[in-house]
Amino acid sequence: MADARVTVDLIVRDLLHEDLAGCAWTGSPTRLRFIAAALGRRSAGVVDYLAVCGPSDLPLGIGGVDYGRSPGAGWLWQVVVHPAFRSCGIGTLLVRSAEERIRRRGLGYAELGVEPDNTGAQRLYARLGYQVVVEAGRRGHGVVMRRRLA
Ligand SMILES: CC(C)(COP(=O)(O)OP(=O)(O)OC[C@H]1O[C@@H](n2cnc3c(N)ncnc32)[C@H](O)[C@@H]1OP(=O)(O)O)[C@@H](O)C(=O)NCCC(=O)NCCS
Repeated sequence: MADARVTVDLIVRDLLHEDLAGCAWTGSPTRLRFIAAALGRRSAGVVDYLAVCGPSDLPLGIGGVDYGRSPGAGWLWQVVVHPAFRSCGIGTLLVRSAEERIRRRGLGYAELGVEPDNTGAQRLYARLGYQVVVEAGRRGHGVVMRRRLA
């Protein structure tokens, strides 16, 4: 066995319905249906849905922004990175790209909900500048974190 380092170019683009066949790694068929439903709402302008893709153009990480959930903010949700490609910075790239979409709409905050026991994700968001604004158990969706966008 030998250590090796491979550098690849990543792109961030809109997730398309055609991508769903390559997103089975995100979980159950139910989850894919949730994603498909979210993509359906994009045509109404209330959702952005992003994919980080490698050279094959297959999604390695995906995540949505809902503009209808929290006044003055974009709500990040369904953020997930392929298990084989975690801890490479893809989650960070996804979050920063989602924030850029929120900024372009003239909104001042990015918000998200995270399960109380998902300490890894909470640590990542805290490092990216998110602060807890609602503790777990209130408003029904775990911990709510928010970042003010410049
Ligand atoms: C949470 C999640 C999206 C993070 O994605 P990710 O691609 O692993 O995120 P990043 O790589 O940007 O950062 C994660 C870790 O990798 C490290 N990292 C970031 N860039 C790195 C790099 N270039 N090289 C090595 N490590 C790196 C970070 O230090 C971070 O470490 P931490 O665990 O101490 O926070 C991913 O773990 C996931 O899909 N989890 C399951 C679904 C989930 O929980 N989603 C969140 C719901 S709110």
